[in-house]
Amino acid sequence: MKKPRILFVCLGNICRSPTAEAIFRKRFLERKIDAEFDSAGTGTYHIGSRSDGRSIRYAQERGYEMNHRARQVTLQDFEDFDSIFAMDASNLKNLMAMCPSEHLKSKIELVTDYSEDKRYSEVPDPYCGDESNFNLVIDILESCVDSVIRWKKY
Ligand code: 4NP
Repeated sequence: MKKPRILFVCLGNICRSPTAEAIFRKRFLERKIDAEFDSAGTGTYHIGSRSDGRSIRYAQERGYEMNHRARQVTLQDFEDFDSIFAMDASNLKNLMAMCPSEHLKSKIELVTDYSEDKRYSEVPDPYCGDESNFNLVIDILESCVDSVIRWKKY
């Protein structure tokens, strides 16, 4: 199988999607599955910024390294990535609307469609929440990674 290229997308690209990138990168490495990961945001507010300090800190406490700089999704991303995971329904809608007609919209999915914890249908935006929301982001994403590997046969 060709090395999969996987993109995670949220709004700001400073909390959820770079966290997803770090969690998936580590788990794929542990399972010796070769893949490439990146993340991007639908919004423009934080382009060039490091990830939110709270995301970095909570991820680090749970063994994940984050060193992403925020960028916005580009049309080229629909060409470059095999799989694009949105964090919430709004990100999904924006990505679907942006996707050039020559690319399959089926490569864009909600990451939580793969969650083994059915309580969550989205990864909730933690930006304006309290610190527990950052751990919840990690919990939800950890509940998705193994089933992504299984369902996509990586
Ligand atoms: P993210 O969180 O989409 O998970 O990176 C957000 C970060 C910043 C903003 C919103 C969500 N903001 O409005 O600035």
